[in-house]
Amino acid sequence: MGSVFVAGTDTDAGKTVVAAALVAALGAGYWKPVQSGLRGAPGGDTAVVARLTGHRPGDFPRPAYEFQAALAPDQAAAEEGLTIDPARIALPEGLLVVEGAGGLLVPLDATTLMIDLAARLGLPVVLAARTGLGTINHTLLSLEALRRRGLPVAGIVFSGPDHPLNLAAIARLGGAPILGRIPWLDPLTPAALAAAAARLDLSPIGGR
Ligand SMILES: Nc1ncnc2c1ncn2[C@@H]1O[C@H](COP(=O)(O)OP(=O)(O)OP(=O)(O)O)[C@@H](O)[C@H]1O
Ligand SMILES: [Mg+2]
Repeated sequence: MGSVFVAGTDTDAGKTVVAAALVAALGAGYWKPVQSGLRGAPGGDTAVVARLTGHRPGDFPRPAYEFQAALAPDQAAAEEGLTIDPARIALPEGLLVVEGAGGLLVPLDATTLMIDLAARLGLPVVLAARTGLGTINHTLLSLEALRRRGLPVAGIVFSGPDHPLNLAAIARLGGAPILGRIPWLDPLTPAALAAAAARLDLSPIGGR
């Protein structure tokens, strides 16, 4: 079992919820290399994952880049007069669930995309996908982009209410293992998430 990169089919696709489930199920740490949007969400995704998994944010490595604006990373950096240097983003030690930002083709700088960072980190990709309308297109496009670049796809984790027809279509057309689904959890508590995490099939990434 090794570290994984959680990519999303889009922003708000459920990457953080899926990452927290993997942290709980694998007993792994968590790392968000590029965090935007701190202005509206202090602590960012690292604080959310810590809350959902019974950790303190300080248990996890800090993001390499943190920005205030809720914009694509290159734009959030520019708002602060900065640029991201993807070559300086180095994977910390340890067993980690690494969360991307936005979808796979989001820019980090003028020429580098999030998918290029995933490739450079060299981790198998877990794709976090919605269950509802639009997910077939977003998920199949994301898988196509990953394959075109030769990135290993460990599997797909859905987040949201069950939608058997969408999940069946993606299972049929996606050619990637379905690791399971985190149901819509309201309230989203550590206990509810841990129970959902325990029902994922993580054998393709070396878990249970
Ligand atoms: N299974 C779920 N149950 C309850 N709430 C969920 C679930 N999946 C996602 N959400 C909620 O939907 C929103 C978006 O999910 P999440 O933050 O995981 O997306 P993301 O892909 O990490 O977004 P970002 O691009 O900002 O990192 C959050 O408010 C999250 O709590
Ligand atoms: Mg997130």
